[in-house]
Amino acid sequence: MHHLLCGLAAVAMWACASTTKQSGSEQPTTVPNASAAAPDSRLPTPDSRVVPDRDQRMEAFIDSVLAGLTLEEKLGQLNQPGTEGVVATGPQARTAGEAEIRAGKVGSFLSVNGAELTRRLQRIAVEESRAKIPLLFGHDVIHGFRTIFPIPLAEASSWDTAAVRRAAHAAAVEATAYGVNWTYAPMVDIARDPRWGRIMEGSGEDPYLGSAMAVARVRGFQGDDLADPTTLLATAKHFAVYGAAEAGRDYNVADISERTLREVYLPPFEAAVRAGVGSVMASFNEVAGVPMHANAELINGVLRREWGWDGLLVSDYTGITELIPHGVAADSAQAAALALRAGVDIDMISRAYPEQLPRLLRQGAVSQAMLDDAVRRVLRAKYRLGLFDDPYRYSDTARERSRTMTPEAIAEARDMARKSIVLLKNAPGPGGRPVLPLRKDLGTIAVIGPLADDSGSALGGWAARGRPEDAVTVLAGIRSAAPRARVVHARGADHEKPDTSGIAAAVRAARQADAVVLVVGEHRDMSGEARSRTSLDLPGVQQRLVEAVHATGKPVVVVLMNGRPLAVPWIAEHVPAIVEAWYLGVQMGPAVADVLFGDYNPSGKLPVTFPRNVGQVPIYYSFKQTGRPPDPKQPYTHRDYTSKYIDVPSTPLFPFGHGLSYTTFAYDNLQASAPRIRRSDSLSVRVDVTNAGDRGGDEVVQLYIRDEVGSVTRPMKELRGFRRVTLRPKERRTVAFTLRPEDLAMYGPDMKRVVEPGFFTVFVGTSSANTRQTRFEVIE
Ligand code: NOJ
Repeated sequence: MHHLLCGLAAVAMWACASTTKQSGSEQPTTVPNASAAAPDSRLPTPDSRVVPDRDQRMEAFIDSVLAGLTLEEKLGQLNQPGTEGVVATGPQARTAGEAEIRAGKVGSFLSVNGAELTRRLQRIAVEESRAKIPLLFGHDVIHGFRTIFPIPLAEASSWDTAAVRRAAHAAAVEATAYGVNWTYAPMVDIARDPRWGRIMEGSGEDPYLGSAMAVARVRGFQGDDLADPTTLLATAKHFAVYGAAEAGRDYNVADISERTLREVYLPPFEAAVRAGVGSVMASFNEVAGVPMHANAELINGVLRREWGWDGLLVSDYTGITELIPHGVAADSAQAAALALRAGVDIDMISRAYPEQLPRLLRQGAVSQAMLDDAVRRVLRAKYRLGLFDDPYRYSDTARERSRTMTPEAIAEARDMARKSIVLLKNAPGPGGRPVLPLRKDLGTIAVIGPLADDSGSALGGWAARGRPEDAVTVLAGIRSAAPRARVVHARGADHEKPDTSGIAAAVRAARQADAVVLVVGEHRDMSGEARSRTSLDLPGVQQRLVEAVHATGKPVVVVLMNGRPLAVPWIAEHVPAIVEAWYLGVQMGPAVADVLFGDYNPSGKLPVTFPRNVGQVPIYYSFKQTGRPPDPKQPYTHRDYTSKYIDVPSTPLFPFGHGLSYTTFAYDNLQASAPRIRRSDSLSVRVDVTNAGDRGGDEVVQLYIRDEVGSVTRPMKELRGFRRVTLRPKERRTVAFTLRPEDLAMYGPDMKRVVEPGFFTVFVGTSSANTRQTRFEVIE
């Protein structure tokens, strides 16, 4: 990609103000990708390049732009307001309009989109303002823009990094046509507490899977060339430890050890950084007493200095002035000083920077260099996006028309949706055979439940410009997949209200049917930001609805729609078939029907543990054994002094990595390439996987390790590899993994990475709780 800087009238002021060296020079506008050649499921290694080689011409160009800016214009670059009509996710603040853009007081916008609107605003910025610096348009493009894909937690259930990357790319193609050049995604927060409503936005509980998903999404959004008009700047958020909110209450404090920080919460950020992520968003929470918007140690320290990242750090919505209620700033001046000193570049919504920094500069509370560095990072992002070359490249009315909801994007959304479904249980029903898949020639199918025909909930939260009318519900999907069957529908209950009056009609519908599909769970408004719950039960009277319908004796399939793990022990025990469908986006109905009728053999695996009840939370597969592990041969009711509960087993309802298929996969011949290796060696692990059934299917083969004796305690299992394989009936395949020193390393007592000598167990299998194992030794 080449361009002539001075050739563009709109950017004449800064281009021609720059030295002759700039004029007519060719400016490469790509961000070299850290390790583009590596397959997605292989995480970038620690020696992957983080900082793209600083492009000297870019730096000289930015210096020249910076040199021409007034203080007010510099502050404008750091100011990100909303405009009228933008949905607020916090306190409303003064929005900005054309006059402020013209005055150079706005550097980027929150949630402004639409090719025409963004062109118009961009034109004011680059033609009518003095500095003529193009605007960034940031938006929450979380799982699709108009063509809505499954929520991120659902996509993570596919364990299919290539598909997830394609989904992010499809979102980028659509969003960029509307002028959006920056997305506030991926959310890479590890979450082990399903009470936290934002668990739906991430990839679940595990740092390894979470890192793989982070890399896939960053690459999907950013592509190989940020200046390509179909790619946008990605944001790894929320830095950091937002998912560890105490008691699962959103925005609450997180207080964790440095070990947990580095082993659990930081790896997906580091992986995103190594994949070249262009921006990072600070999180609302404090970590051990220091709110993240003032956390110089983590932002300037770990992210910038330790990892060598040079990207753009954006505050969260009013995150800077929230330092006041946090109690570390007395007023917005102090808040602005703390944030700038910590390394926060862009002030989203709060306006503390434009209003307070001039005085703080005069007083010496912040330095000119700090301000200039922040502005430089904003300009670099704009440069890498190619905006100085063509500020309108992302606002394309023709493309907006032709690339919205294309058949290809819809097909991609259906593929992603099918892969995101997890078959939790498929036991014999009243007829003695597994209930699923259903036959399409059934006489009558009753589709029951408050969510069966809820198109808004099909989209899930954070649905950008998705429209409920674009979404195909489960009811509609079943109707079109089985046109010869009689499909009767009853809501049965509200998703939330304690009203039992609809249950009788639902039971009548079930009685007429040959099979019942019960679609229950959470309305989409119950998952997402500020949607924490203290209960993980089915809301409202849905549990009673399920019990009443089950009592008819008909074969029942429960389809769960939800953004968090739910505690559904009664259903797990009594209902023969359970399908975890999450919120799957515009193609929810067809995807669920594909699975229900066996047109697609389910292959998803849980990216997060399902507890038996809320009291088990936090519960996750990579727990530590403790000094008093329970004896698995004793019932949990046995009163001994081990680490367990006296009222429920301490095991989960459904473990991490769990997910069934309509076929079965057999594992054998697990082998490590050597009984012992040196610390610097890699080891290869192989296993034979056979499709033992008579239906083709995909299996996600999972590899875990345990460092048996360490200088500090180690988790019982840690995911260190996974591979999705497609097997025909009776086909056998050898699946090989490589364990590199980095995969075996841990943080030692001094918090340095080390591979410690000793024995390791390797587990390979179909879920974290169903594995075969072998051992090897690491020697000096
Ligand atoms: C607040 C949320 O925490 C963040 O994830 C989002 O990107 C911003 N609001 C902007 O909508």
